Amino acid sequence: MLRGLPPLTDPNVLVSSSTRDDAGIYRLTDEIALVQTVDYFTPIVDDPYDYGAIAAANSLSDVYAMGGQPLTAMNVLAFPPDKVDEETLSGIVRGGAEKCAEAGAALIGGHTVEAPEPLFGLSVTGIVHPDRVLTNAGLRPGQLLVLTKPLGTAVLATAAKFDECEADDLAVAVRSMSRLNAEARDLMIDLGATAATDVTGFGLAGHLSQMAFVSGAAVEVWADKLPLLPGFEKYVEAGNVTKGGRMNRESTADRVVLKEGLPKHLIEAVFDPQTSGGLLFSVDEGLLDADALPDWAVVIGRTLSGEPRMTVRYT
Ligand code: CO
Ligand code: CO
Repeated sequence: MLRGLPPLTDPNVLVSSSTRDDAGIYRLTDEIALVQTVDYFTPIVDDPYDYGAIAAANSLSDVYAMGGQPLTAMNVLAFPPDKVDEETLSGIVRGGAEKCAEAGAALIGGHTVEAPEPLFGLSVTGIVHPDRVLTNAGLRPGQLLVLTKPLGTAVLATAAKFDECEADDLAVAVRSMSRLNAEARDLMIDLGATAATDVTGFGLAGHLSQMAFVSGAAVEVWADKLPLLPGFEKYVEAGNVTKGGRMNRESTADRVVLKEGLPKHLIEAVFDPQTSGGLLFSVDEGLLDADALPDWAVVIGRTLSGEPRMTVRYT
């Protein structure tokens, strides 16, 4: 969120950047609100098509994280013409377009500029019922926390950059990052979730501690329950830790308490910046049958009453 923006007084603005939510929400009628978001980043994988698909899934995710349905999307593309050829560009855009089609969102335009580094993503417009918006601020005591994708994308992408990531492991990471959070959105709505976000650049710790803070709730994460991408521990042990992970750890130091004895790789998982990560949502304990969840949805902790902070421990 940028400082210095004028305060919003329009009563139809239901969610703005003030709570660092995933998207802004604007009420059109009593039944329909607009969900608007834009996101883009530099290539995370070498394959242009995969990069486009991942960037698009990531952008669409911010609409799902609010409980919404994407309707339209526009490409946001920047590239250095001397370094990126036509074929690469068309691969990126095709990857994005196919994700939009899968999401049922009409790709209705976009904008391309020249820049020193490639950037790709989407601006997405969706809809949600104004009374059914899910934000960061809805955590309550007595809830369980559910995460819908494994952690570790930055560690695996770093290993891949140094040619240290096994092809099978990287393929799982790419599939995970390319996967839409549409099913996860359906699941959380079915379960009666009261708060949600997607886990992206600030990592599990950054996003969850922010939810705790704006909800005024304490949260506890069970480190041994965290879903991890294949090989994650091995790649951490081999030294593939990231500057982003370290920055996430530093910036949440006053809000995140790590209990004694946590293994290094699980600490890394808590702070690892995610690209196109899963949804993280809260459901009242009595409403959730953990055994009935699909295998991609994992209970990773719970809310507690008390100071709004995040504690990470072994169960
Ligand atoms: Co987000
Ligand atoms: Co985002």
